[in-house]
Amino acid sequence: MVKLLENQVAIITGAGRGIGRETALMFAEHGAKVVVADLDAEPAMEVVAEIKKIGSATIQFCGSVTEPEFGKQVVEAAISAFGRLDILVNNADYCADFLLHKMTDEAFNAILDIHLVAPSD
Ligand SMILES: NC(=O)c1ccc[n+]([C@@H]2O[C@H](COP(=O)([O-])OP(=O)(O)OC[C@H]3O[C@@H](n4cnc5c(N)ncnc54)[C@H](O)[C@@H]3O)[C@@H](O)[C@H]2O)c1
Repeated sequence: MVKLLENQVAIITGAGRGIGRETALMFAEHGAKVVVADLDAEPAMEVVAEIKKIGSATIQFCGSVTEPEFGKQVVEAAISAFGRLDILVNNADYCADFLLHKMTDEAFNAILDIHLVAPSD
């Protein structure tokens, strides 16, 4: 198999589940060193364990992308562990499954925070 991401370092947010998890495993199979970032430590640790089985280097980073210091801290963690950063996958999601006109202001603002504010920080 041709490894397309050999020695590249990637941060993937929301990598504990779903699309983020599958992206993390695929990146690792292609030789990337992956920072598995997620709000929930437990699923993130499981992904880290799977990546280690694949044979790629990886670390877990636990925190919310909506925290003001998250971006700085996760980049510092990547550089500290692997000495560089090449790829950021802004994947973390909070999805309130409501119609817009039935949504509370709190739910609406939480969606704006995670989808617009956090990735632009
Ligand atoms: N699944 C779909 O059909 C679909 C379709 C279009 C777009 N998307 C987008 O793809 C992305 C992933 O979707 P998914 O279905 O895999 O989601 P998912 O719910 O399966 O996984 C999301 C992950 O993000 C983590 N997360 C949630 N809030 C977080 C926060 N504040 N900080 C850090 N991590 C946080 C969760 O713990 C979870 O592990 C989302 O951005 C979603 O909007 C998904």
